[in-house]
This record gives sequence, structure tokens and C-alpha cells, in this order.
Amino acid sequence: MPLNIWIDCDPGIDDAFALAMAAASRDKLRICGISTVGGNQTCRKVTENALRLSSFLGLADVPVVKGAEGPILGDVKPADDVHGDTGLGNCRLPDGGKELASENAVLYMGRSIENMGEDERITLVPTAPLTNIALLLKTFPHVKEKIQQIVLMGGSAGSGNATPYAEFNIWTDPEAAAIVFQSGIPIVMCGLDVTRQCGLFRSQMEELLESRGPVKHAFGEMLEFYFNSPSYKKRSLACIHDAVTILYLTDPQLFQGSYMDVEVVWGKAEERGRTVCRPSGQMAAAGISAGNRVFVLNQADLPEFQRILLEKIDRLEDKNGNGKGV
Ligand code: BDR
Ligand code: CA
Repeated sequence: MPLNIWIDCDPGIDDAFALAMAAASRDKLRICGISTVGGNQTCRKVTENALRLSSFLGLADVPVVKGAEGPILGDVKPADDVHGDTGLGNCRLPDGGKELASENAVLYMGRSIENMGEDERITLVPTAPLTNIALLLKTFPHVKEKIQQIVLMGGSAGSGNATPYAEFNIWTDPEAAAIVFQSGIPIVMCGLDVTRQCGLFRSQMEELLESRGPVKHAFGEMLEFYFNSPSYKKRSLACIHDAVTILYLTDPQLFQGSYMDVEVVWGKAEERGRTVCRPSGQMAAAGISAGNRVFVLNQADLPEFQRILLEKIDRLEDKNGNGKGV
């Protein structure tokens, strides 16, 4: 039986890869919905991208819903330098004519989860700031019992990428992240510790770019932007952070991790957005309330990650010049 998943995203180049990985894995994953949130770009832009991507990748049957404009406190700070002005680098996807199923993602998600069968459970897969997920848990607290786990891209046990301490998704909305990490729902944290090990090399990007297949070419154009962005100048590997969530679900043998207690630093602290990770048990021993055990991924098999990712993108190519969900 495929696993029920819900993808909450801000596409975003690596979010686009995550959607592609899910579209190519429909034998293992039932994608119940895709919601958007302001993060990499404004909510308007990432929602437009999500609609176009879902048509392009053969996910026309999956509802796309629009979520929070920005974090609970403050505003979105678009990552133009990493994802470009549209959010998808140099790639311009066709308008597939798909329309939003709702302009209120939280309400739509809450109702969809409520309406699931008695024995059904769902895995939430946020690859963006956790604003929608926190609002969902506050608005529909009773749906918690239907949420089997949250497999998220965010956080770091080591250094950050938005600040020396904080990873971008958690840094964008630490208050929301604190709510989610304290929810008691089992969490798998695909943070920078593992996602920095997962990506494609320049030569692989060039091969995608030179391909005549529209899906491969489009992903080559997205990655080309990463490689040309100032923050990537000296790097040989373009990290595809968000795809780790989906590959963890479909191919868990690629990854290793350990259980940690994770505390999110929020408020006005200098380390705002930091995810402080301590081996499980340590916080309880120090007398601080634990109860937010998180499985933190820390190792990946890069050659296998690349092989499976490229094979899945290839699987999406169809002879008619469009993507096909498989
Ligand atoms: C995360 O931040 C965003 O820029 C990416 O899409 C990813 O979700 C990596 O820190
Ligand atoms: Ca993202």
C-alpha cells in the first residue's frame, strides 16, 4: 500500500526536485496534496511554480493549495540569490492551466486529514518554513493523531546556511518550527548535516542541460542557476536539500541517523532559528523537559543518491514532451 503523504513546499529549485522525486514514485507514495508557503520567494510566486510544476510533472490530479504569505512574525526574505527572481532559476515552465483547489491551505489540509478513513494515517513532508504546519496543528489539534510522522527538510546539528547558526527554513519561521518540534509527533529531520552531502556535480547538471528531454532539460536549467549563483562559486556539488525527504521515504537505505532531542531557538536571541541537537536523554538528565525526540539524519550514500535521483528524473520523461507522474 502506498504511503499517504502531503508535501508543503516553497518551490524553489530543490523543492521542484522533491516534487519530481514524488511524481516518479507513485507506486510507493500517494500524494494527497501540495501546499505552498512564502519562503524561497513570495507566496504568489512559489504557488505559481507549484501549479506549473504539478502540470509539468504529471501531477494534474493532485490538489495544489495556497498557504501562509509569510512567517508568524516578520516577513518573507526571498532567496533571489539562490533560487532566482521566479524561484526556479533559469527555467521557465509552461502554464499548464491548473488552478488552485483552495486559497486556504490550512483549512483544506485540516479537512482533508479529518476526512481520511479511520485507520488511515498521513506523513507530512514540509520542505519549507513550517508556518502552515504550525497553523494546522494549532487550528486542528485533533488531526495530530492522524499524522504518522513529519519528515521535514530543515535545521542543522552543526552550522547554518542562513546565519552561522540557523538553516534557512527554520530561520524564516522559528516560532512555527518550535511549535512543530514540540508537538510530540514523530519527526525525521533531514537537516543540513545530511543534505549538504546530497546533490549533483556540475558535469551531471551539464548532461541534464544538454538533454533533449524536456524534464531533464528543465532540471538542468534550474541547477545551472545554482552553480552560477555567487554562493556556489567554489562548490563542486549543488545540494538538492529538499529531495532528501522524499528519497528518505522511498529509499531509506541511503541514509543513516540517530535520535536526538531538538530545541528550536526562537524569539530575539542571537542564535534565532538554531536547532540545538543533543543526543536523546541528555536534556532529560539536565532536568529540561524532553519529549521531542527527533530522528536526525547525518549520513548519506552520495553515489546511490545520485543514481536514484537521475534514474527517477529519467522515468518522468515522456515522448510527447511532457512529464508524466509514474
Ligand atoms: C532549504 O532552504 C531553501 O532555500 C531550500 O528550498 C531548502 O528547503 C535549505 O536550507
Ligand atoms: Ca524549500
